[in-house]
Amino acid sequence: MPTHLQAHLHAHSLREPTAFWSAAANAITWYRKPDQIFQKTAEKCTPERGVNWQWFAGSELNTCYNALDRHIESGHGSRPALIYDSAVTGTKKTYTYGDLLDEVEVFAAVLEGAGVGKGTVVLIYMPMVPQAVIGMLACARLGAVHSVVFGGFAAGELAKRITDCQPEVILTASCGIEPARIVAYQPLLQEALTLTSYKPSATILLQRPEYRAELAGMLDWDEEVCKARREGRRAGWKVLKGDDPLYVIYTSGSTGVPKGVVRDNAGHAVALTWSMQNVFGVSPGDVFFAASDIGWVVGHSYIVYGPLLHGCTTILYEGKPVGTPDAGAFWRIVNEWKVNVLFTAPTAVRAIKREDPTGALLKRHDISSLRSLFLAGERSDPETVRHFEKVLGVPIRDNYWQTETGWPLAAACCLPGKPTPTRAGSAGPAIPGYDVRVLDASTKQEVTRNTLGAVVVKLPLPPGCFSSLWKNPAGFWKYLDKFDGYFDLTDAGFIDDDGYISIMSRTDDVINVAGHRLSTGSMEEVLAAHPDVAECAVVGVKDDMKGQVPVGFVVQIANSHSLHESLPKVLQTRIRTSLGPIASLKEIYIVPKLPKTRSGKILRRSLRDIVEGRKVVVPATIEDEGVLDVVQRLVRPRL
Ligand code: COA
Ligand code: AMP
Repeated sequence: MPTHLQAHLHAHSLREPTAFWSAAANAITWYRKPDQIFQKTAEKCTPERGVNWQWFAGSELNTCYNALDRHIESGHGSRPALIYDSAVTGTKKTYTYGDLLDEVEVFAAVLEGAGVGKGTVVLIYMPMVPQAVIGMLACARLGAVHSVVFGGFAAGELAKRITDCQPEVILTASCGIEPARIVAYQPLLQEALTLTSYKPSATILLQRPEYRAELAGMLDWDEEVCKARREGRRAGWKVLKGDDPLYVIYTSGSTGVPKGVVRDNAGHAVALTWSMQNVFGVSPGDVFFAASDIGWVVGHSYIVYGPLLHGCTTILYEGKPVGTPDAGAFWRIVNEWKVNVLFTAPTAVRAIKREDPTGALLKRHDISSLRSLFLAGERSDPETVRHFEKVLGVPIRDNYWQTETGWPLAAACCLPGKPTPTRAGSAGPAIPGYDVRVLDASTKQEVTRNTLGAVVVKLPLPPGCFSSLWKNPAGFWKYLDKFDGYFDLTDAGFIDDDGYISIMSRTDDVINVAGHRLSTGSMEEVLAAHPDVAECAVVGVKDDMKGQVPVGFVVQIANSHSLHESLPKVLQTRIRTSLGPIASLKEIYIVPKLPKTRSGKILRRSLRDIVEGRKVVVPATIEDEGVLDVVQRLVRPRL
């Protein structure tokens, strides 16, 4: 059962949103306080106008000021703000709030020198190094809109993002470091720039000692910073409107075109600060370790902004849960930096469990500072939850959210003094601010408790959630169009008798691979672009460690130039170079035909059943049942 406190706060937040969010807004330092906490701006949401509400109208603030300056002004300049711990380079560096502000002020001046100001788009394609965080905060300081692209994306995906957000300036580094190889970014960036007709006016590159890139017209990060220091240039924070955009983050949808989720300044600052204390149970000065990547929303919200807005110490970890050097890496960090709360993806802890099933590596470290382990990105399976509850001796708190919401909408909250009990297999009860419902996809009516349906949030969305897609009102409308008055999360799940929400699967063609949200549509696009491919389908199938992995089915054209045997390898290479290695297909099957309905829809569910070894339910609308038999005969012997 949710404790009275979470249930009470949840009810209060929906009944009296103004009072609830007004109290939360007190944690932020405003340049100008909101005239109104919440206001309805029209009778209904419409495709042209978008949403019909506004949070914190009339407010002015600066997110970077709230994340850095004000903590120093309150006497916490010497508190560690960011601890960089790189297992792949052996580097460790602590930045106090004072140090971080110093770096951000100077780098913001460098950006100003490159023509960056309020509203300028800056794309950040960087590994997990402090300069990436400094770049993000420097943009926030100036009111520039940053768009961070995950370093594991290859040229094709990077090009799509450059084309869509048209950055004036790009920040990059000479390389990322994967355990087994150096990933040179400059060739990827160069290739991306040849794939898009858009050209940025400046690129600033951080040279890393592990690999030096040809500058070829790019500005050298360190030289620019030294020059600004020599010239005594520093940038102050700019006054921004509450609804000015802070950043755009691209995420996968059903099609190959990524969607640019826009986050504003005011709602984001209020919601994240509230969540730090009330969802994650951390106080200013606590140490928060989100083992994710700044390229994902978890990294934006809980490596960078959430902990810093709340005055915590955040850990920036460059490494993997296993293999850098072993499955004790997270516990070493918890011990060394006295981490209070760890946040990661279920796939990461499953990888740890696989390598260290008895917790022998864990026992080498003192993890007594740890209070909770939060898991998000996919459903935390009960077996994994129970294992870690046992070996860590702390609650494992699943929490459910997505790039669009920016912060969790369901979790057993760690409310001060009144934590909500967890329930293995469920994400937890709805978080204050979110009116979560489950609807029947066909009748659009609410289903009864414990019945699976489409998970939605009754409008309005709380502060911090997106309220538009970057220059894409039609794309945004799709979220609101399916169920009138609700935001469609494109997930299927149910709510139990106690209000605990369980999320079981996506309802679109998005899959979650090792905590990465990927579109099967974009993989199909890459396969279909090969001249020897007549038709294809990609489906996500279950994987014990990664949650899901993509598997492809390809129909070769008649008189194909490729050998039947070599085509899968060629296609795999295309996927890796276009989308990135994180999107590698587990298998590519060359099949004579794809199973389809009479109306021509590919039976992806049947393909999934075949690969997962389940009994295939043959839909009544199937065009040719024989195709399923042929595919089964090809796939099953190879499993
Ligand atoms: N830059 C470049 N390449 C990257 C990359 C990055 N930032 N991240 C991953 N890759 C590459 C890997 O090197 C690997 O390449 P390979 O096929 O040539 O070996 C490929 O992408 C697949 O990587 P990954 O999906 O990470 O699988 P893995 O088997 O190497 O590791 C896990 C498995 C579970 C350890 C790893 O996926 C992981 O740490 N997942 C957690 C992800 C996470 O935190 N997500 C955020 C949500 S909260
Ligand atoms: P992303 O936008 O990359 O954060 O991915 C969001 C998607 O991941 C959601 O729509 C869900 O499908 C899935 N997801 C995230 N957290 C959870 C969770 N705790 N339980 C189940 N699914 C989750």
